[in-house]
Amino acid sequence: MKLKDLLHDIGTKTVSGPDDVDVTHIAYDSRKVGPGGMFVCVSGLHSDGHKFVREAISSGAVAVVVDRSVQVEGAARIQVPDSRKALALIACSFYGHPSRRLKIAGITGTNGKTTVSYLAQSICSQAAIRAGVIGTIGYDVGDAKLKGSHTTPEAPEFQQLLSRMVAHGITHAAVEVSSHALALRRSYGTEFDVVVFTNLTRDHLDFHGTFEEYKKAKLRLFAGAERGAAGNGQPTAILNLDDPFFGALAEAAGERIVAYSVSKDADLMARDVELFSGGSAFSVTWKGREWGIRLSLPGLFNVMNALAAFGVGASFGIDERKIVSGLEAVKGVKGRLEVVDRGQAFSVFIDYAHTPDALGNVLRTVREITKGSLICLFGCGGDRDRGKRSEMGRVSGALADFTVITSDNPRSEEPLSIIAEIEEGMLEAGGHYEIVSDRREAIGRAIARAREGDSVLIAGKGHEDYQILGDRVIHFDDREMAEEFLDKQLQ
Ligand SMILES: Nc1ncnc2c1ncn2[C@@H]1O[C@H](COP(=O)(O)OP(=O)(O)OP(=O)(O)O)[C@@H](O)[C@H]1O
Ligand SMILES: [Mg+2]
Repeated sequence: MKLKDLLHDIGTKTVSGPDDVDVTHIAYDSRKVGPGGMFVCVSGLHSDGHKFVREAISSGAVAVVVDRSVQVEGAARIQVPDSRKALALIACSFYGHPSRRLKIAGITGTNGKTTVSYLAQSICSQAAIRAGVIGTIGYDVGDAKLKGSHTTPEAPEFQQLLSRMVAHGITHAAVEVSSHALALRRSYGTEFDVVVFTNLTRDHLDFHGTFEEYKKAKLRLFAGAERGAAGNGQPTAILNLDDPFFGALAEAAGERIVAYSVSKDADLMARDVELFSGGSAFSVTWKGREWGIRLSLPGLFNVMNALAAFGVGASFGIDERKIVSGLEAVKGVKGRLEVVDRGQAFSVFIDYAHTPDALGNVLRTVREITKGSLICLFGCGGDRDRGKRSEMGRVSGALADFTVITSDNPRSEEPLSIIAEIEEGMLEAGGHYEIVSDRREAIGRAIARAREGDSVLIAGKGHEDYQILGDRVIHFDDREMAEEFLDKQLQ
């Protein structure tokens, strides 16, 4: 694609050098630049692309985008006010604006994004619509299910995934838009048809600094700016009325709002909710009609997720009966209160909850379906938000009968010092616990402790199949571990 065509939609810029060169690829990592590449200098958490201009040009870059006063010799220089926004808009152009050819729902919020995206995909599939998914568990682009390193990848990968969906005849997509992605403008320029908000609690504060910054990042998806200069039309906003952040989002979102609630009068409302061990039953009121739903995902929060997905389906114009059968067809989402059953006399659940709020929610949910004792196992990641460690200790101390405190991706930190911070909160809450820093051994201990009617919740890793120790990544799968111990016990 010609450089001048790529630059067409990016707004304010100053170009020096030839703009009729062919650009063969876009890179924001100088090590990935080859002949004919465009190098976009963005400042990341660890390094600043502006330092690598010379390296990129010697690798063959024909154009360099900067937002600082950096010298560029031997390639076209494009000065922009914000190179992250430019990167996203250039990616949209380079891949032919795939979001214009898809009906696309962007899902944001602290918890529930992955679940809502899979529920939405199931709804589409009941209506014989092929929907792609981009999110934490992976990228489903039609011809392949890819593993990703980020919930929402950087703009060039993100737009490439969308264009791959279009190429494979996919017409709809449900994508998770993390707060990182919003802050880093990864989805900027994408023309969403629907935007969904699940809830907002403290999470990722190591990255965003303050709760206010975090809120601001989340607001972006709902305020028009995020959709870029070319964005036409206002997407429908599906908003959680039960969350304190509703008002601010509703104001940003404008007119096309669908409010959902499990407690108040709303456009989409769940009534007569009955929770039981394997899921829930409730009725949804929508446009003056009532629909009965039996959901196989346990917990009230999944009723809320189902309402959000109902809103997505309705905004996509899908028939309500298909929406209901799509919700009912989902038997579980990997690592989201996933049941491990080897015929033992107690329950074992694997859950991805790794924030105080999510852990509290999931513990309350499991409590409701447990006759005996509730045993919880978790750890906290190293090199990440430290504030949540003692809070999670407090939560588990208060809500579980017994906790096994262990490790969860300690990274460069000393596992026992992370555990000591969790223990502080545990002690404050007066919880019963033991410390077993080796996660494998810890799972064995938790399972050995369980008696008939008890529940063991193995929290934090969910679908992940690795553990990060120092700079090593080893294979580790909570489900495999739990199955191994259960099978041994039953022999
Ligand atoms: N609506 C909700 N409200 C509160 N907690 C929830 C909600 N939905 C799910 N959870 C809890 O949070 C965990 C993560 O759910 P899910 O993976 O769907 O969310 P996510 O937003 O994609 O999270 P992440 O940002 O970590 O990828 C679940 O396992 C569950 O314990
Ligand atoms: Mg997710």
